[in-house]
Amino acid sequence: MPTRIFNLSKQQTVANQFMAELRDAEIQTDPMRFRKNLERLGEILAYEISKTFKYENKTVETPLGEVEIMLPLQQPVLATILRAGLPMHQGMLNIFDRAGNAFLSAYRRHHKDGSFEISLDYISCPSIEGSVLIISDPMLATGASMEVCINELLKQGEPADIHVAVAIAAQDGIDHLLRVHPKVQLWVGAIDEELTAKSYIVPGLGDAGDLAFGSKVQY
Ligand code: URA
Repeated sequence: MPTRIFNLSKQQTVANQFMAELRDAEIQTDPMRFRKNLERLGEILAYEISKTFKYENKTVETPLGEVEIMLPLQQPVLATILRAGLPMHQGMLNIFDRAGNAFLSAYRRHHKDGSFEISLDYISCPSIEGSVLIISDPMLATGASMEVCINELLKQGEPADIHVAVAIAAQDGIDHLLRVHPKVQLWVGAIDEELTAKSYIVPGLGDAGDLAFGSKVQY
């Protein structure tokens, strides 16, 4: 891939409709539609990422004859960050239906002064040695959670490729992630310029986890 950032919003496709609905405060009141739009975005980004895979010709027998089809050489490992990443992960899994699956729990532990640190409590991961690793999460704000999660995943093995798929990325988060993990290829629904003092993306869409699954108790 010539560039390390694929930005879906630069193309005139139906994906813009899904992005518009994800951002629209009125439509967001329907959590099922919010989750479904993240899932649809996961499917589209999975399809785009599949264009970077290695393929081999395989013979398939139909009831009437044989046909050669280019099939992916390997299935990826799909990773996501609980809980907001689950709908996009499902979309990825709809496309890569034989993929391995990794889950991490990471969340912001906020301090009174507005700063936060990333707490990572849980990881479940198959072997990622030599694999194509795809990590999906809806929001790349500062890039801090993604950095911590990739660090943790890399303790499990050395993937051949690392793709990060997000719905909305802040420019600061992109700069940070590509600095700390230069091997990453980034796939985004859109790029927004600003972060609030509490590191929310503006205009963004709000709290993706809360919109998908309901508000949480802050701790
Ligand atoms: N996480 C979210 O859910 N929204 C943001 O804007 C930033 C991080």
